[in-house]
Amino acid sequence: MTNINLFRNRPVAVIGAGVMGIGIVQVALLAGHPVHLFDVREGAAAAAAEQLAATLARLADKGKLTPEDVASARARLHVASSLNELRDAALVIEAIVENLAVKQALMRDLEAIVTHDCVLASNTSSLSITAVARGLEVPGRVVGMHFFNPVPLMRLVEVVSGLATEPAVADAIHMLAADWGKTAVHAKSTPGFIVNRIARPFYAETLALLQEQAATPAVLDACVRGAGFRMGPCELMDLIGHDTNFAVTQSVYEANFFDKRYQPSLVQREMVDGGLLGRKSGRGFYRYPEGAAKTND
Ligand code: NAI
Repeated sequence: MTNINLFRNRPVAVIGAGVMGIGIVQVALLAGHPVHLFDVREGAAAAAAEQLAATLARLADKGKLTPEDVASARARLHVASSLNELRDAALVIEAIVENLAVKQALMRDLEAIVTHDCVLASNTSSLSITAVARGLEVPGRVVGMHFFNPVPLMRLVEVVSGLATEPAVADAIHMLAADWGKTAVHAKSTPGFIVNRIARPFYAETLALLQEQAATPAVLDACVRGAGFRMGPCELMDLIGHDTNFAVTQSVYEANFFDKRYQPSLVQREMVDGGLLGRKSGRGFYRYPEGAAKTND
């Protein structure tokens, strides 16, 4: 039986040191776990550890953490140089590129490394958890643990069950998320789960208005903020990253049998093709000075 004690103070491994991975590492470290961080891109995990150290220092300056909290969190972080170094993890959370084949290959590699009771969680925004677990010896340990951006600030976590996910695994992740100060909801492995199912038409209509040149990004954002939302859709897409947002739209569109309501936008594809990825590349709908991507405090 999987329960919360399986995870308490035990090592958590995060794979993918990008926008989401860094935030997940921060939350797991501050919850008291030793954390392994691995990224296939040379130097990415080490750079993320430096970025995280700067974030923790800023939190200490603001009085939100003590210098001892910062020192112990930093000491618990291990930058791994190979997947083999994750073998003692009780939980692996992958936050790599939104591509089913790549995630499936990673899960297969992990199964050969981790212990039999290690839970394999995916932070996918839209891909089928059933499909991510396909072909594994123990598909019941695969579950969606879908955080929102920026991870330390956003409370929601969708705990996504695929056809094979053991209910005890989903329940344990739900409890763990609560233990980490998050509000967890159970969701099923339907395209986009709950939030991205609702959010896709929001982005699609925004991108359609831009394509029609009906309004600029600044006007669209001002309108939506004026209507009571905390962020406008253009600034939100810049925060998410247009490469990730476009991949999620494509995945939800395909998974809904090419329903026109979820059709990806030419505007966004052009931005991805041009490397205008949003905050993480310094330019999306808006321009960002260096360092503006660091939103985790
Ligand atoms: P990102 O592009 O910022 O970072 C992905 C990282 O994964 C990169 O550093 C890349 O080098 C690494 N990577 C790629 N393939 C790998 C592999 N096979 N092994 C190890 N590392 C690998 O992406 P982001 O935005 O952090 O998204 C990651 C995941 O989180 C995606 O599944 C995405 O859908 C999901 N997500 C993203 C949100 C967002 O707002 N950006 C929100 C919620 C979920």
